[in-house]
Amino acid sequence: MPVEGHLRLSHCHNFRDFRELARRRLPSPIFDYIDGAADDEVTKRRNSASFEDCDLVPSVLRGGKDVDLSVTIMGRKLAVPFYGSPTALQRVFHHQGGRAVAAAAAKLGTMFGVSSLGTVALGELRKAYASPQVYQFYFHKDRGLNRAMLKRAKEAGVDVMMLTVDTITGGNRERDLRTGFTIPFRLTFGGMLQFGMKPKWALNYLTHERFSLPQLDEYVDMGAGSMSIGRYFSEMLDPAMNWDDVAEMVQTWEGQFCLKGVMSAADAKRAADIGCTGIVLSNHGGRQLDGSRAAFDQLAEVVDAVGDRLDVMMDGGVQRGTHVLKALSLGAKAVGLGRLYLFPLAAAGQAGVERALELLKDEIARGMKLMGCTSTRDLSRQNLRFRMANRGVENVD
Ligand SMILES: Cc1cc2nc3c(=O)[nH]c(=O)nc-3n(C[C@H](O)[C@H](O)[C@H](O)COP(=O)(O)O)c2cc1C
Repeated sequence: MPVEGHLRLSHCHNFRDFRELARRRLPSPIFDYIDGAADDEVTKRRNSASFEDCDLVPSVLRGGKDVDLSVTIMGRKLAVPFYGSPTALQRVFHHQGGRAVAAAAAKLGTMFGVSSLGTVALGELRKAYASPQVYQFYFHKDRGLNRAMLKRAKEAGVDVMMLTVDTITGGNRERDLRTGFTIPFRLTFGGMLQFGMKPKWALNYLTHERFSLPQLDEYVDMGAGSMSIGRYFSEMLDPAMNWDDVAEMVQTWEGQFCLKGVMSAADAKRAADIGCTGIVLSNHGGRQLDGSRAAFDQLAEVVDAVGDRLDVMMDGGVQRGTHVLKALSLGAKAVGLGRLYLFPLAAAGQAGVERALELLKDEIARGMKLMGCTSTRDLSRQNLRFRMANRGVENVD
């Protein structure tokens, strides 16, 4: 990576480069909010490392020239086998925020998620782009509020309702405790100094559209600052949410419904039983339960249990095209991205996200050619060997 001052988007060739550019451009409390995870961040590290315990076995002389990267998940075709997982607060990372992510995803022909804590209104994005959209939902104690939010999402034309189930309480993110990062900002003195050191970010933040949380503002006084995100989680979300509540939600929604944060085969079966059409194996990028298993390690077991009943996706630690190839080979229908697009967003807005997604797409296409596959459907467990036989998968001989 070139030295400071000459660091440009065009110098970013991989996840590490984008992360470094974001680190240099963001006040460190914001960088740490994106980069950080719970407790000792063991799960976050394992998420990426899990892919390295698995090797690809290519086939040669198959005469492949063009490759078809498309997949179909939850009734919608995506041009590429990855999608933007819903993430909060994008406007804080870059003044273009969620609009940049939506535009880049639409350009690539893929799906993106709008978080309950997203900074652009669901309806606005739905009108602006025809690409499939997910609305990520948190379950509130107030059932009337839940119903009103579902109704509004339905009216907006949301394709997939995605209920996050791994966040009934906030994770212990110690980097944020140290810097005082929370919304509204309550920075420690050290945290404040860090903001002072990135005047360009501060200028952009202050001279563009005011920060707001439109998905919640109608119901909760978030933007005006009387309710912090921490209090929103502890006071408004329902830690007692259970399978009956979700079954009712699935029926009310009457459409594609996905649970994000399922990890066990037993829970995956229950999701299928209550009518979910998809699940995302996820540990929230290691930001919730530290020590939780990596989704990739858990994937085969869950695909074997429910892969014929609903669409199984996964996220966590994806940084390379070959990671996507490995997940698809194990049976994932598509792969979700978090920090892979957040660092580029923070580093360079829409141009950054587009570059990162294009690079990933190129890596997948190149990897498939080198694997001897012309379609994502050609990928199978025949293409994989595990270094240790602890993945619930017998190496295929
Ligand atoms: C900064 C940040 C904010 C996030 N916000 C949300 C959110 O609002 N809702 C949600 O369901 N998941 C959220 N996630 C989790 C992502 O959707 C996804 O599961 C995770 O980032 C995948 O791991 P990766 O970042 O290693 O790709 C967030 C993740 C990050 C890094």
